[in-house]
Amino acid sequence: MRIVSGIQPTGNLHLGNYLGAIRNWVAMQDEWAPQSSEIKRLQQLAGIKSKQESANESRAECFYFLADLHAISMPHDPKALGENTREMTAALVACGIDPDKSTLFNQTQVPAHAELQWLLNGTARVGWLNRMTQWKDKAGKNRDGQSVALFTYPVLQAADVLIYQATHVPVGEDQKQHLELARDIAQKFNNDFATEDAPVFTLPEPIIPPAAARIMSLRDGTAKMSKSDPSDMSRINLTDDADAIMGKIKKAKSDADALPSEAEGLEGRPEARNLVGIYAAMSGQSVAQILGDFGGKGFGAFKPALGELLVEQLAPINARFNELRQDREALNAILRKGAEKARAASAPTLAATYDALGLVR
Ligand code: TRP
Repeated sequence: MRIVSGIQPTGNLHLGNYLGAIRNWVAMQDEWAPQSSEIKRLQQLAGIKSKQESANESRAECFYFLADLHAISMPHDPKALGENTREMTAALVACGIDPDKSTLFNQTQVPAHAELQWLLNGTARVGWLNRMTQWKDKAGKNRDGQSVALFTYPVLQAADVLIYQATHVPVGEDQKQHLELARDIAQKFNNDFATEDAPVFTLPEPIIPPAAARIMSLRDGTAKMSKSDPSDMSRINLTDDADAIMGKIKKAKSDADALPSEAEGLEGRPEARNLVGIYAAMSGQSVAQILGDFGGKGFGAFKPALGELLVEQLAPINARFNELRQDREALNAILRKGAEKARAASAPTLAATYDALGLVR
């Protein structure tokens, strides 16, 4: 099992990024692969002592990267990009990505991503890219005015995962189409340039987090929590201290009714649903359990409990983040070391791709 995922170094990670993506990355890094935990459970049932505690080979191998090459597909500030790349690295480590367990790096330091993208440009079809909804949304009516990079963005994303023979790619719902494109490219390349028993690329499976992890704005329960929302009150940032978190939750939009005692009662109440969803995601409890406790109570009781839960869980992350983000050298070293591992892991697939295409190396 090989897990690969990337995140754009936009700066300012918030609760939505944490619960929607980063926390899953950490869980995948730390958890046993599904087959092995199943084996472990059966062994426990049978009273056999597991030898797997010390054997690392059943753990999924994780590659997590900052998609800094993707960031140049839109107008950007070069000074901010470098700072954001390090800042995001600090945030990922603070959230629990362990550079010794996972391979953590930025695309730029692994040229194989850009090289493979060029090679895959021979296989990807203009019609496929024209159908990408992210391209259509971002380009709007002005396609001619966009960078070529915005158009070929999904081919780079395909290269990102195919270069490591990824088996699983955790992404948000909005990236599912890009993953399907990666599969189409892999399949066409294998068909055109490889044999069935020696394919060059593995077809990756997307892992989409459950709907519960979709965190909405604190000011509008129908809009995604986003770093580009002009109101800072709409989101909990990983840089927020305890007072800021409590203040934002107290002022979060809600409604005048008490919480229902069953999940169905949240229908048509997007803000209430969002706040309960955040509580569920942070506590690991089900919505039903939470409504069992808070049903019939108003937001005057629920909000302080939610605020305390957030403070308790985010305070250690916040502390590690504030410490690490100051340490430019340590962050550079983490990225350098990760890139070294990633370059080694990417070399065989890149070589096989050149060979399959008949390019003389
Ligand atoms: N496009 C992704 C996003 O905006 C980021 C990304 C780049 C990515 N390359 C990737 C995600 C490869 C998963 C795999 O969220």
